[in-house]
Amino acid sequence: MTSAKGLRLVERDASGVDLAFRADVLAGLAEPQKAIPARWFYDDAGSALFEDITQLGEYYPTRAETEILSTRSAEIAELIGEGRAVVEFGSGSSVKTPLLLSAIQPSAYVPLDIAGDFLRASAAALSEKFPGLPVWPVEADFMRRVELPAEVANLPKLGFFPGSTIGNMIARTATDLLRSMKDTLGEGALLLIGMDLVKDEAVLLAAYDDADGVTARFNLNLATRINRELAGDIPLEKLRHEARWNDTFARIEMHLVATDDIAFTVGGEHYTMREGESIHTENSHKFTKRSSQLLLAAGGWEPRGRWTDEARQFSLVLAEAARPRSAP
Ligand code: TRP
Repeated sequence: MTSAKGLRLVERDASGVDLAFRADVLAGLAEPQKAIPARWFYDDAGSALFEDITQLGEYYPTRAETEILSTRSAEIAELIGEGRAVVEFGSGSSVKTPLLLSAIQPSAYVPLDIAGDFLRASAAALSEKFPGLPVWPVEADFMRRVELPAEVANLPKLGFFPGSTIGNMIARTATDLLRSMKDTLGEGALLLIGMDLVKDEAVLLAAYDDADGVTARFNLNLATRINRELAGDIPLEKLRHEARWNDTFARIEMHLVATDDIAFTVGGEHYTMREGESIHTENSHKFTKRSSQLLLAAGGWEPRGRWTDEARQFSLVLAEAARPRSAP
């Protein structure tokens, strides 16, 4: 399980198949509502397509969050204070992370990511931009408590979780993650978290089903990846991308919908889909001020500050780790 670099987090069989990918896909396709965890979108092609999504005219979240970080940086910095070790959940974006790090005077930067190569590349790029800042990348699955480097053990922490990635989890998983973050970051920690807002349905649908079909290609790439890596023969031309608003859960869902009755094989297993049946591939929950605060409270975090962009499309929330208490 260990390699020269420490933990090796991907287990493969003799022919190179990622066993966790195989297990997730075979189990997900056997469900009554077929579903595949969204983490499998991000092979090389998927990661590049996602990068393209963030540049789309219809995809407002990246621009809106960047606007908040650049126009409200003074207020954000004031509440955060100086000297915190910034722990980013994910490898960091080349735009948002530098905006945050230049706004506050951090004592260290600790990016956490499960994808080691990507992590080391983005950590190196960041070190170059901030020559005086100690950078301690940690290759880890941040869905569980992470042991931070000894060098930052005694520094106050600021968790950073932009991109409304918390919205890609159902409430139970999101709550578990928020609690793990609290365990990872320790007492007195702050968390700066991006949470996308409920808005006009047409605006939401366009953000997840753009006119150029980039999001459609991103979604369909998952089926392409399954065919390539798991010896599948899913008929790609009989699946179409669909973005749906689920009002009960206040979320955009992405599905791959069969345009015909189809039968296919993946990893030696046989599956069928009726016309109109779908594989559910992603959720992106949208929040109101109250629902965001309720979710944070359920995960053990108390709101301390909240900012939106000018058009009120997206929110950035600053929260503090709640102290344990026994009475209301
Ligand atoms: N968390 C972001 C969002 O939900 C980014 C994202 C994750 C995304 N998966 C996606 C964007 C799939 C488009 C399609 O918007």
